[in-house]
Amino acid sequence: MTKTQVYPVNPDAPEPAAIAAAAAVIRSGHLVAFPTETVYGLGANACDEAAIARIFAAKERPFADPLIVHLAAADQLAAVCVDLPRLAWELAAAFWPGPLTLVLWRSSVVAANVSGGRDTVAVRVPAHPVAQALLVASGVPIAAPSANRFSRPSPTTAQHVLEDLDGRVDIVLDAGATTIGLESTVVDLTSDPPRLLRPGGIPAEELLAYMPDLHVPPTPNVARLEEGLVAPGTLLRHYSPRARVLLVRGDAAAFCVLAHAAVELADAQGLRVGLLVTDADLPCCADLLVATVSLGAAEDYSAMARTLFARLRSLDACGVDIILAREISVTGLGRAIRDRLFRAAEGVVIEDRAGLEEQIDRGFGG
Ligand code: TXA
Ligand code: MG
Repeated sequence: MTKTQVYPVNPDAPEPAAIAAAAAVIRSGHLVAFPTETVYGLGANACDEAAIARIFAAKERPFADPLIVHLAAADQLAAVCVDLPRLAWELAAAFWPGPLTLVLWRSSVVAANVSGGRDTVAVRVPAHPVAQALLVASGVPIAAPSANRFSRPSPTTAQHVLEDLDGRVDIVLDAGATTIGLESTVVDLTSDPPRLLRPGGIPAEELLAYMPDLHVPPTPNVARLEEGLVAPGTLLRHYSPRARVLLVRGDAAAFCVLAHAAVELADAQGLRVGLLVTDADLPCCADLLVATVSLGAAEDYSAMARTLFARLRSLDACGVDIILAREISVTGLGRAIRDRLFRAAEGVVIEDRAGLEEQIDRGFGG
């Protein structure tokens, strides 16, 4: 058990003393949680195998699930990767600093356990001034997964980090809520054609303009842990709150009917339902006296992305057993929101009352 210290920092101009303290912790082989523009990361020196092992222990993350290496600037790519394709530099110039992660061939400078022993490494240059300052002051590449316990929703505030990792991280740099709210888009440039591994903060449509041959698998693209070897990042039961998420397909009217049915069916079993809706669904659900949170306007995907994980956590805090949510379209940032909701729902989409009954009858043993 470590005594976790929280340093409040100005998100636009972080205090040098706090950054220096955090950088010293990184250089000494220990852990710092810090904000990026996407979510908070749990960082350690990417060249220090023992420090990286501490990340996996703190998160209780399987060692086979590889980490993203963060760099202060694109010109450091050549220090952590080998055989860099020209496309990597073009994408870096277009999207960095920003929420795009590139999977490339790993240089031996990067600790092997960063990538679970793979010969590839995922890299990005974050745009957040606090992440930037920490990277510059540390002088080393920083490997950082999202700063949540394995399979919990990613943290978008320092408070979320503490909920999951208090006593397991040395310093938390608290710069308030992150602006994008969903993780970076991950693209594999070591496969031919390049592949979208995880939809995220940069919409697939923007990438296709630079790489027309990018393979974009249908969203959701998921695998179960039991199936053995699966592509990293495609696991189900990622981003899960404690409550079970039931994802409903259909328009507002269909959602309204199923929300009423869900409350009735759950009531009969002594289970509590919470609703994760958009503003448009609020009037229809107003007569249901259950915990209801809105992601905001249905057409504002940026706002929805920013609040999704916090809303899932807040419904959990209400003590509900079931979170009923509506499927999101695949356009723009919607693809990433849809992906996270689908994983939280363990890959099940409900289309009618029979499907709902089947899921509620499945039980809630965890
Ligand atoms: O926005 C983000 O990407 C945040 C912030 C902190 O930068 N980080 C993040 O890290 O979301 P994490 O560990 O939660 O997700 C990393 C994703 C996983 O899906 C992982 O499987 C994939 O990147 N990944 C990492 N290295 C890889 C590799 N060598 N090959 C394929 N996928 C890789
Ligand atoms: Mg994560």
